[in-house]
Amino acid sequence: MSEPPWAAVDEFLESHLLESDPILDACLRSSEAAQLPSIQVSPTQGKFLYLLTKLVGARRVLEVGTLGGYSATWLARALPEDGKLVTLELNPKHAEVARTNLARAGLADRVEIRLGPALELLPKLVEEGSGPFDFVFLDADKPNTRAYFDWALKLTRPGSLIVVDNVVRKGELANAASADANVRGMRELVTALATEHRVSATGIQTVGVKGYDGFLLARVEGRGSSPTASGRTAAPGTRPKRAA
Ligand code: SAH
Ligand code: DHB
Ligand code: MG
Repeated sequence: MSEPPWAAVDEFLESHLLESDPILDACLRSSEAAQLPSIQVSPTQGKFLYLLTKLVGARRVLEVGTLGGYSATWLARALPEDGKLVTLELNPKHAEVARTNLARAGLADRVEIRLGPALELLPKLVEEGSGPFDFVFLDADKPNTRAYFDWALKLTRPGSLIVVDNVVRKGELANAASADANVRGMRELVTALATEHRVSATGIQTVGVKGYDGFLLARVEGRGSSPTASGRTAAPGTRPKRAA
């Protein structure tokens, strides 16, 4: 049986819909030369993030998981000149490669890379009053994703968009018996969202050069907007949800 044509379709879409991009090519080359894992979003996914950032009209974006700055380049490019991307990275080598890549892209002034474990950096952002962010992209260590999502809720406003990468994991998301900590982390997030009334969320399965995976998209609906709390009607499709 032949392989599904996912990669070929991605290549076709990329060749027609994405401009050739020496800056992004250089980003990937330098990441590879520094032996960073090649797990960045694909080009078509990067452009998807860029379009979402623009659609939201984001001026302030938060990313968790910088790697070599590939997705950060897409996100930062979608910002207005006085916009800001804050991106959090644990690994100093990754952060260094990203710094070089973002400087080459002419985005150094728009991007702040913060080094450390995201679970330490996120509370600091809250303390500093760095929010609200208009768009948040969660793409770091998967077992902590639910915790990152909870911090993202403290750092956003009604109307903000939170996007989570790698939610579907080759379909393992549907496997309740999975022992994979990454899968369990994503199941924990989705399960928690079943009763999280502050967001309206969906999952989108994706295929392409990175195989079979998916994004979770969540729009922040505002605090105290639960129908039981306020008597207001929920946004379409937000409730009732099935219990976890
Ligand atoms: N968003 C990037 C890919 C990120 S890969 C892109 O698409 O271009 C995941 C990154 O998260 C790695 O660089 C890894 O070092 C970082 N990471 C892992 N654990 C982390 C943690 N606890 N805090 C912050 N970053 C972490
Ligand atoms: C992998 C892919 C990712 O997008 C990521 O953030 C982490 C890991 C992977 O394919 O292993
Ligand atoms: Mg990812």
